[in-house]
This record gives sequence, C-alpha cells and structure tokens, in this order.
Amino acid sequence: MISAYTSFQRIDRLPDALGKEVTLNGWVYDTTGKGKLHFIKLRDGSGIVQCVVFKPNVSEEVFDTARSLTQESSVQITGTVRAEERAPGGVEIDVTNITIWQLTSNYPITPKEHGDAFLMENRHLWLRSTRQHAIMRIRATVVKAIRDFFDANGFTLIDSPILTPAACEGTSTLFETEYFDLGKAYLSQSGQLYAEASAMAHGRVYTFGPTFRAEKSKTRRHLTEFWMVEPEMAFFTLEDTMDLAEDLVEYIVQSVVRHRYQELSTLGRDIAKLEKIQRPFHRLSYSEAVEWLNKNNIKLNKKQPDGTEIQIDFPWGEDFGAPQEEALMQQFDKPCIVHRYPAEVKAFYMKRDPHSPKLALAMDMLAPEGGGEIIGGSQREDDFDALKARILEHHLPLEAFEWYLDLRRYGSVPHSGFGLGLERTVKWISGAEHIRETIPYPRMIYRIQP
Ligand code: 4AD
Ligand code: MG
Repeated sequence: MISAYTSFQRIDRLPDALGKEVTLNGWVYDTTGKGKLHFIKLRDGSGIVQCVVFKPNVSEEVFDTARSLTQESSVQITGTVRAEERAPGGVEIDVTNITIWQLTSNYPITPKEHGDAFLMENRHLWLRSTRQHAIMRIRATVVKAIRDFFDANGFTLIDSPILTPAACEGTSTLFETEYFDLGKAYLSQSGQLYAEASAMAHGRVYTFGPTFRAEKSKTRRHLTEFWMVEPEMAFFTLEDTMDLAEDLVEYIVQSVVRHRYQELSTLGRDIAKLEKIQRPFHRLSYSEAVEWLNKNNIKLNKKQPDGTEIQIDFPWGEDFGAPQEEALMQQFDKPCIVHRYPAEVKAFYMKRDPHSPKLALAMDMLAPEGGGEIIGGSQREDDFDALKARILEHHLPLEAFEWYLDLRRYGSVPHSGFGLGLERTVKWISGAEHIRETIPYPRMIYRIQP
C-alpha cells in the first residue's frame, strides 16, 4: 500500500477526508462560472471532483487564475472537502488556492463530436476522456481477474517468446523479420506450442502476452497486435477444457461487475445482462449449429467464378464467419461453445475425434450481444505419427517443429488448452463498438500511429 501521507491526495480517496484541507494535482476537465462563483471539474486519473471557487474566499489573484483555466490545463488545487450529495463521489472542494503547472491552449479534443479518424490520430490524448478511461480500467480488471483465476487454480504463469522460428496459426498471417545470421524470425501468433511444452513440466500453465497476426481484415474485431491468455493443461480432455473456459469467463465477467460497476454505468452498459453470465453456458456441436442455420434459413453468400454472389444453404465443412456466428447467437443471452469442427478448417495441432475422424476436437466460445468469438481451443494431437503427418500435410517446416515433436516422443499425454482474446473480451463486456477502443494503442493494417 502506498503511504497515505503523500503531499497531495487522490480524488477517489476524498470521501475519507471530509472537512479536511487537501491538496489535489490534476487536469481541468471542464470549467464554468458566473458572477462570484467559478467551477472547475478536476480529474486526476482516480476520479473527477468539482472544485468551487467562491470569490470572497480567495484572493483576487486566485480568482483570476480560476477564470483563466482552460480544458486540460494542469493544476494544483488546495481546498476543503465538503459533502455534496448531488456530486459524483459525494464530495466537492471549497477552493482556497490554485497553482498552475501548465496553462493549455487549443486542446484538440473538445466536447463536440469528433470523427473516428481524428480521435485515432489523437489516441494519446483520447485516452484521457471519460469513456476511454472507463474502458482501460475495465481492461485492467479483466487482466487481473484472469491472473487471479489461474493463480488460484493451480496454474503456473510461463511466458512464451515473441520472436519465434515458425508459424503456429497458419502461414498467411505471419509478420516476419530478419534474424541475424539465422534467417527469418516471426512474431508469435500464439504462445500455445510453448505452453504445451511447459504443461509437460508443470501440469497446468498459462501464458499471457501480446500476439501478432498480419490480418488483412478491416473488421471491428481484428487487431494485428492483441493480447491472448492461453492456459494449457496436461491430462485435460476437450470436455474438461470447455468446463474450464466457462468457469474462467464467468469469473471474469462477474469480477468486472463487482469491481467496475461505476465504469460500466459510465459506458451505459446494460449491467443486468452481464449479471446473467453464469454457468452453465450453451453448447452446440458444429454439426448441430449447421443444422440450426439451415433450419432457420440463414444463407451463405457465395461468390461465383463470374464475380456474382448467390445465396446457398450452409454447406457442412465450411468454416463459420461473423454472419453465421451472429445469427447463431441471436437466440442466446449467454456465451455458447461450438465444438467438434471439421478438421479441414482447423489448425494442424488439433486432435481428431476418435468417433469421427473428420472432426477436430476443437471448440470456440462465442459471446452474446455481437461479441463474436472470444475463445478458440482444442485437445491437442498427442500421437507422434499423426502429428508429424499433419505438419507435413500443412507444408510446415519439419525441422522447426522437431522440439514440438519431442513432446510426443518423451512422455506424451492427452492435453488441451485454449486462447482467450483479451481485447475481444473487453469489447464484449464494455459494449465498445470497435476493438480499437479496448487496447491503449491499437495496431491495425492501416494504423501504426501514435
Ligand atoms: O482462435 P485462435 O486463433 O486460437 C489460437 O491462437 C490458439 N493457438 C489458442 C490456443 O489454443 N492456445 O485465437 C484465440 C483467440 C480468438 O478466439 C480471439 O478471441 C483472439 O484470440 N483473436 C484475436 N483478437 C483480436 N484480433 C485478432 N486478429 C485476433 N485473432 C484471434
Ligand atoms: Mg479461432
């Protein structure tokens, strides 16, 4: 705990200082005045408090200073904490002194509406606004909930590398870079393969860090740099893994409801909907999902060789896109796990269903309210020959996977895991329109600044 006896107070702690004189440091969020009164909304990152400057209580100089303040000027304000029921946080400051750190002119982001492109150019400043502040706090709480969940359930955190020698999730979305005399290196698409090795050392592990996909998609759900938590468990079946995924997601959502109620309210999020995110969630096999789509007449737009589009029944074997996932989720107010996908559309490392070898023991968790896929996971192929054949079928460089094959040479066991996308999860929980609002500095194909 940081000592409470710093030379200044934080706004969120003011209710403990009723009647006392305090010094605050922060930025001017907004200011208005009339006659002998001037009001300064001060923000310091922990909250916003209204500071009231009453002419008879301060020197002429301080009153003039108050009137000169502009949006986002940085200031130090001294005054007495007074209870004020109508104020957010329940307190106000009766100001006695103001010192300016810096008087700001022409702050680019004003209370008027700005276009998306402008806000993205000014992301470094946009982060100060109330909505963005609330979303970042929710993100921090989601990260903490994830760590708490795994730490409390016998998992060991093992960090996986970001510079890697080979692809994990398909070769079409790889960022590559020159790596000294050793040829090419790739930014990690997933820490999974390393998590698998670590699970053979620790039983249950999770890796949690940035991952990279050179995604050509310009959707509201794709970043080129995103964070993923990937638990990996020795001796877990697909069924065990789906249970774990449900437990995790329930825990995350309920932690946010408990600790970030105010931020969710600021965002206008329907909190009652989040409170309902309790186990059990829904589950459908891929085949059941296809049947549902076709029964409900959800067609697939298929491009013809001549460029025209026709609408067809959803063919078994095709991967779901966002339109199918959205249609499927209309009926649910809780997440739904879709499991046992056609092996053809899934990654090389997934184990085949022993009852039906056309299927992979895969699962995706889809979130309601347009949240889309937040989790992808599977039981892993643990048989040496089968895995080796799969690597070759996918035209992956065998040498780069020799170490991974070792896990099937030396004490191979059934094992499973999944990856939960942090930003997708924050987007769903916070109700953000676009994934770019859920990470401090979003990276997309058309954006690397600021
Ligand atoms: O389904 P994915 O590709 O699965 C894997 O990477 C596995 N290796 C995970 C594992 O089993 N350990 O990605 C997992 C999740 C997705 O469900 C989604 O939430 C998120 O990562 N994700 C993205 N988030 C933002 N932008 C992108 N471009 C994303 N691609 C995947
Ligand atoms: Mg996926």
